[in-house]
Amino acid sequence: MTDFMRTPLFVANWKMNKTIPEALDYAKKFLMLLEPTTSDVFIAPPFTAIEPLSSYFYHAESKVVVGAQNMSDLLDGAFTGEISASMLIDAGAKFVILGHSERRRYFKESHDFINRKAALALNSGLSAIVCTGETKDERAQGLTHDVILKQLSEGLKRIMADEASSLILAYEPIWAIGNSQAATPEDAQAVQAFVRSWVKSQWGEKLAQQIRIVYGGSVTAENAKEFLMEKDIDGLLVGGASLDPKSFSDIINLN
Ligand code: PGA
Repeated sequence: MTDFMRTPLFVANWKMNKTIPEALDYAKKFLMLLEPTTSDVFIAPPFTAIEPLSSYFYHAESKVVVGAQNMSDLLDGAFTGEISASMLIDAGAKFVILGHSERRRYFKESHDFINRKAALALNSGLSAIVCTGETKDERAQGLTHDVILKQLSEGLKRIMADEASSLILAYEPIWAIGNSQAATPEDAQAVQAFVRSWVKSQWGEKLAQQIRIVYGGSVTAENAKEFLMEKDIDGLLVGGASLDPKSFSDIINLN
């Protein structure tokens, strides 16, 4: 079967950075720097900037898409401090990042919790970017595939094939996040090919060809191109280098 053409995807994960004025200032500069592209460009700002940013891009007639970095696994109710899928959609979000390693590690998010969120996000009409990745120790012990397999099989077990079409998977080795020590493109490719083979076993060949699997972990304008040349790397999830409109647009403009 010939490879399905997957639209490249670039996702900015701003984490807990930028006030509303800072986000709008970024958006203005970013649109000036971004060259016309057929790639998909997603930005995940903090919750407070979702509505202002999505309105900004809408009025600028830009196709940059805004989304969230997390959401509740519940529909609504007495859950102080939580935010629901419908609230995110209301604010203009089109996607949500789930199971980021910082959520798993600092907020003790379990596979099952991530699974409930992913099912709810997809049922609500949001695209879900579900993150996977191993620690340095796990890699050293040769456990990378086991860890990823568990994250996929338990974190996505309630997702049916028809819902999985709005799913995006991210491979973000934990040891490569935020420290200027990216994985090699070959290592990332090997894991992402494994992720795609899991998708095939779970939901079939067609979906395995269609689903986008992005790499994240110390991506910069200097190393981005090498990752994108790999067969199973369909885009990039960028943290630190997405905080500056110039470096994020440089990464996309390279493509
Ligand atoms: P980084 O973060 O690009 O700063 O390594 C990536 C991420 O955590 O999504």
